Amino acid sequence: MASPDNSLPEGYKLQTGYPSTSQYIHLRSVAGLSAKTPSQAAAVPTGSWFGCYITFETTKDDPQLVGMGRVIGDGGWYFHIADMAVHPDHQRKGLGDVILKGLLQHIHREAPADGKPYITLFADEPGRRLYYKNGFVDAAPGQLGMALK
Ligand SMILES: CC(C)(COP(=O)(O)OP(=O)(O)OC[C@H]1O[C@@H](n2cnc3c(N)ncnc32)[C@H](O)[C@@H]1OP(=O)(O)O)[C@@H](O)C(=O)NCCC(=O)NCCS
Repeated sequence: MASPDNSLPEGYKLQTGYPSTSQYIHLRSVAGLSAKTPSQAAAVPTGSWFGCYITFETTKDDPQLVGMGRVIGDGGWYFHIADMAVHPDHQRKGLGDVILKGLLQHIHREAPADGKPYITLFADEPGRRLYYKNGFVDAAPGQLGMALK
């Protein structure tokens, strides 16, 4: 399968791994996701199974973080996709699609071949069409996603 990186517009680069704690907190905030503390953010690189992010080359030395996604999982069969976020200034350019395809490609490549990986996510409204396009279906009514209040 072709690398999802090939479909990025010019100036964007797909990287494996996770953004820094401060970049992560900032990206979640500008993308309209709930605020997280530095201690919560510090667990992202240590507690995730896989992640990727996209940077945009600016005139400054420091490339800007513009998108990310990660997988929390056991590496065997259970994989949960989290933190799908693209900076609003860079949305609707296909970056979310590249990130999601990158995560899925890695799962399918690395998960044991003798069983089907179980890949889940909680779909906020802005991401739903992207998830449907990439093969996700509603778990309900057979299953209902739940979160402890
Ligand atoms: C969900 C999210 C990650 C999607 O990121 P994105 O980079 O905008 O995603 P894409 O560009 O791949 O796809 C989004 C739309 O842009 C369209 N698009 C892709 N490339 C395009 C282009 N060059 N020109 C115009 N539109 C384009 C896609 O077809 C898609 O359209 P659709 O929704 O009508 O099907 C982003 O909207 C986001 O961060 N939202 C806020 C945080 C959030 O809710 N995250 C989801 C948590 S579950």
